[in-house]
Amino acid sequence: MSPRSIDEQLVKFLADVHSIEVQALAQMERAPRLAGDPALADAFSAHLDETRDHERLVRDALSERGADRSTLKDLAGRVGGWAMIAFAWINPDTPGKLTAHAFSYEHLEQAAYALLERAARRAEDVELMQLARRIGTEERAMSERLAAAFDQAVEASLRHKPASRLDGEVVAYLQDAHAIETQALQLLRAAPAIAGVEPLAAAFRDHHAETREQRERVEGRLKAHGARPSRLQDAALRIGGLNVAAFFAAQPDTPIKLAGFAYAFEHLEIAGYELLRRVADRAGDTETAAVATRIADEERAAAQRICGLWELAMDAALVKVGVAT
Ligand SMILES: [Fe+2]
Ligand SMILES: [Fe+2]
Ligand SMILES: [Fe+2]
Repeated sequence: MSPRSIDEQLVKFLADVHSIEVQALAQMERAPRLAGDPALADAFSAHLDETRDHERLVRDALSERGADRSTLKDLAGRVGGWAMIAFAWINPDTPGKLTAHAFSYEHLEQAAYALLERAARRAEDVELMQLARRIGTEERAMSERLAAAFDQAVEASLRHKPASRLDGEVVAYLQDAHAIETQALQLLRAAPAIAGVEPLAAAFRDHHAETREQRERVEGRLKAHGARPSRLQDAALRIGGLNVAAFFAAQPDTPIKLAGFAYAFEHLEIAGYELLRRVADRAGDTETAAVATRIADEERAAAQRICGLWELAMDAALVKVGVAT
C-alpha cells in the first residue's frame, strides 16, 4: 500500500464516524416510538437532537479538511465499516432489546470518538481533538441515561405479559443470551489472528475461553428450566449471515475497527445480562439472577481491557494503512 499522510487518514476516519452518525440518526428517529415508556422515549428524543448536531459537525469537519466533492456526495447515504455490521446484529422488537441495542451502539460511538481523538492528536489537529472529546462526552451521557432506564425497559417489555408467563420470559432472555454468546464465540475465535497487535489478540483469546464458560452457565440455567437453546435464535443472530472475521480482515484499519466493534459487542452483552437479571428477579429465579450478575461483571471487565488498548490499536492500524512505522 502506498504511504499515506496522517491527514488523509484522518479524513477516512472522519468518514467512518460520519457513517456511524448517519446510522444513529436512523435509529434515533424510530426509537422514541418503540420505547414503550415516556422517560425512555424522552431520552431518545433528546439524543435525536444531539445526533443531528453530531452528523452536521462531523460533515463540516470533513469538508473543512478537504474531503473532496465526491467523498462528500458519497456520504449522503453511505453506511459502511462499523455501522453496517453493528446494525445487522439484532432486531430491536421490544423496549428491552431496543435499549440494549442502543446502549451498545452508544458505546460503538464512544469507541469511534476515542479513536478519532487519538488520530487527531497524532495529526496535531487540536480542533478535531476537542470536537471528538465533546461528542464522545455526549455519547457517554446517553449511554448512562440508557443504563439508568434498564428497569423501565424491562417494565415496558413485560407490562402486558401475565405474571404466570414470567418463567417463559426468563427462558426467552436466556435464549437471547445464548445466541449472543454464540456470536461472541464466533467473533472471538477469529479475532486474535487479525487483531494486529499482541495485547489485543491476548485479550480476545482470554475472553474466548471465558465466553465458553459463560455459554455453559447459560445452558445450565436453560436446562434448569427444562428448556434448550433456540437454534433459530442462535442462527438469526449471526449478524445477517455475515462472516464477521472476513469482514474485519478486509478493513484497511482492522485493529481499531475490530477493537471498537468488540467493545460495543461487550456492551450488548452487558445490557442483555442486566435485563436478564431483572427479569429473573421478577420471576424469583435467584440462581439465574446470580449467573447474570456474574457474567455482566465479566463482560464489563473484558470491555475495560479492550478500551485500555485504544492507543496500541491505533498504532497498529496506522502501520497497517501505511501512515506510521
Ligand atoms: Fe452521535
Ligand atoms: Fe449517540
Ligand atoms: Fe463477552
